[in-house]
Amino acid sequence: MKKSALSENIRRISRLDRYVPPEKIEGAIKLDSNENFALDAQFVKDVAQEAAAQVDLREYPLDQLGQLYVQLGRYAGIDQKYVAAGSGSDQIIELLLSTLGSRRATVFTPTFSYFINRCELHDIKVDKVPLTKDFELDSQAFLKSARKSDLAYICSPNNPTGNQFDRQIVAEIIDALDGKLVLIDEAYVDFADYSLVSEATRRDNVVVLRTLSKAFGLAGARVGYMATNERLARIFRSTIQSPYPISVLSLAIASGVLARSDQVKKTIDIVRKERRRVLERLAAIRGVKPFRSDANVAFIETGNNYSLVSKALAGAGVVVKLIGNVAGHKGCMRVTIGTPEINDRFLQTVEGALR
Ligand SMILES: Cc1ncc(COP(=O)(O)O)c(C=O)c1O
Repeated sequence: MKKSALSENIRRISRLDRYVPPEKIEGAIKLDSNENFALDAQFVKDVAQEAAAQVDLREYPLDQLGQLYVQLGRYAGIDQKYVAAGSGSDQIIELLLSTLGSRRATVFTPTFSYFINRCELHDIKVDKVPLTKDFELDSQAFLKSARKSDLAYICSPNNPTGNQFDRQIVAEIIDALDGKLVLIDEAYVDFADYSLVSEATRRDNVVVLRTLSKAFGLAGARVGYMATNERLARIFRSTIQSPYPISVLSLAIASGVLARSDQVKKTIDIVRKERRRVLERLAAIRGVKPFRSDANVAFIETGNNYSLVSKALAGAGVVVKLIGNVAGHKGCMRVTIGTPEINDRFLQTVEGALR
């Protein structure tokens, strides 16, 4: 029997790597997905309750998306006409990949695996350029590959390593790739020192992806956004994006949290301060090497202590992202930075295991 194109395609897709959601372990401290637990749960609950009381779920969301664009623009420091939103930045990535006709993408590795998986789903060839041993961008090697691609993806601050790349180097890459789509993923930028949103508004090929899932504590509400030039933002809103991408409840919750962004900024300050403390304390533990981070994560190498440290963390109910060997580094883990109490539990467990 002749195989149909449909069954061939389903077979191809069935062989692809897939995202495996982390397991939820009751009572454990969840430090594996970079959510913001420094933001008080009650604060988010109060905003959600207020939002639930405001909305009429019988209606399609009409003007709420427009209001969100204004608030997002204000927060990001750009006019709302440069902003478009989606059901998480994951959905924005998905829509850009499925509509803009890219055939070959350049990424560096290690980076956010979802992006690579989605390229492969859409049959977009992915060329992977390794980061240097210090997790820096080798801009010459990246450009050599990206000149042969029609899409380049730069996650900065990077997931999983946590470091933000030098602004000048990223700007030079963008300049050199004029005419090719460049996606800058700034999911963790709220914890870092600079953003490229204003660069994106001035160029016709740059999209900066951002999200309310991390610093804003709304991973469950699924609200992401992008900043780009006015034309692409307009076309994305009117034609690429579906008419009602975000539920009216999530829109109201996002607006409520953005209206209190001062509160969020306070927790960002706490996380940045804690990041410094956690990295310093990790550096003092023999057998652990922490790397520079500009995100709400600590990326560490534990070498031969990998199994000892992972077992101790699991035993203490501290769930971290186990990464293993990457870019010549052995036994790596990525850990979310949370409140001082949460971070102490993590630090004390690692210190106890390696004493
Ligand atoms: C680099 C990066 N981009 C995007 C996302 C997805 O964010 P969202 O929840 O907005 O889909 C994540 C989530 O882990 C991420 O790490």
